[in-house]
Amino acid sequence: MQTPTNITIKGILGILMSCLDEKNKKRVISLGMGDPTAYSCFTTTHLVQDSVLQTLESHKFNGYSPTIGLPQTRKAISEYLSKDLPYKLTPDDVYITAGCTQAIEVAISILAKPNANILVPKPGFPIYELCAAFRNVEIRHFNLIPEKEWEVDLEEVNALVDHNTVAIVIINPGNPCGNVYTYQHLKKIAETAKKHKILVIADEVYGHLAFGENPFVAMGVFGSMVPILTLGSLSKRWIVPGWRLGWFVTADPNGIFKNAKNIERLKKYFDICGGPATFIQAAVPRILEDTKEVFFTRTLSILKNTSDICFRKIQEIPCLTCPQKPQGAMAVMVKVKLNVPLLKDISDDIDFCFKLAKEESVILLPGLTVGLKNWVRVTFAADPSSLEEALDRVKSFCLKHSHQQKVHIDLI
Ligand SMILES: *Cc1c(COP(=O)(O)O)cnc(C)c1O
Ligand SMILES: *[C@@H]1O[C@H](CO)[C@@H](O)[C@H](O)[C@H]1NC(C)=O
Repeated sequence: MQTPTNITIKGILGILMSCLDEKNKKRVISLGMGDPTAYSCFTTTHLVQDSVLQTLESHKFNGYSPTIGLPQTRKAISEYLSKDLPYKLTPDDVYITAGCTQAIEVAISILAKPNANILVPKPGFPIYELCAAFRNVEIRHFNLIPEKEWEVDLEEVNALVDHNTVAIVIINPGNPCGNVYTYQHLKKIAETAKKHKILVIADEVYGHLAFGENPFVAMGVFGSMVPILTLGSLSKRWIVPGWRLGWFVTADPNGIFKNAKNIERLKKYFDICGGPATFIQAAVPRILEDTKEVFFTRTLSILKNTSDICFRKIQEIPCLTCPQKPQGAMAVMVKVKLNVPLLKDISDDIDFCFKLAKEESVILLPGLTVGLKNWVRVTFAADPSSLEEALDRVKSFCLKHSHQQKVHIDLI
């Protein structure tokens, strides 16, 4: 089998960091990666750290856990997620994974069979393509529509589905677009999946990180209509991405996906996975039950503030446009206006990001890595002063390049 050739986010950011100009004295500001812990205003709460200290010091959790996860951890996650649903999940619906990344890997591996295809959003999250390439699962991209709050193009979905389609991936709240879907739109997605008898893989790693008009609605709400595989983790909402604590959940009250054969397959697959450390799993019940509301409200307030700064600053930059104000998650997609005569010496989004890194020591993620050429992804999970400074530098970068262009035109 060939090694997949996809560019990964980590790969391209590594190359961007390595091409920083050492003569450039400006401090490096990265709005490329989605790791909020890089900025001191995004820290987890004391209770979360203390929960882990407690389980570690108890000496009770140094052994292996069951491969699908500790029973008390599965129970706590089923109760936590059930709060958003019109029915109750059971602990048996929950499988513990090493972050949401491994939950994605499990979902794709479990659904892989000869000729299978999975529908994935564009722009999206490249781990899906990467996993699918390793499992020989075909990926079919449907577009998210920027002018319609990045909603799924359902007509396109209808056109892409065939009898080998096994699932559609929905990321909500959305990375990379910062969208939060309405109940009505999610219902339409569920109806479409039901019509075609395919599953929904609901990536809710940003669950509850919604700070705009639309409240977060869990896809599992439609679990009675169509089986939903809900994927999530502590990484983003609790700001501990390095702890690698995630979940793969069958939100399927009618037991359509959960037949004996699939359950056996899942359990066997988990025997080869190796989930997160036992003492981290053991801390989850206390983390989910006792984290104070004020921690969540504070995080949302900061994200609201930084997303507002981000949106406002981008509107001041002539070579960029942002079609939708972010409503959730931690990043937003911004279009680079290469067609206007502003940036004639910049060939595409990759060139834009490389020159920006070199000249201004600011890292943005080229849109191509998430499926949209000539866009960039801007992470707003950064402290306000860094964000303002970074976007000021992007502005002077754009002005400098349009000015150079003007001088050039004047000369000829
Ligand atoms: C961050 C992220 C993940 C991975 O989550 P981890 O818990 O860090 O593995 C998955 N999906 C999306 C859309 C993400 O942004
Ligand atoms: C967000 O901004 C508002 C208004 O400027 C401010 O009152 C509030 O303290 C900020 N929130 C946080 C958590 O910094």
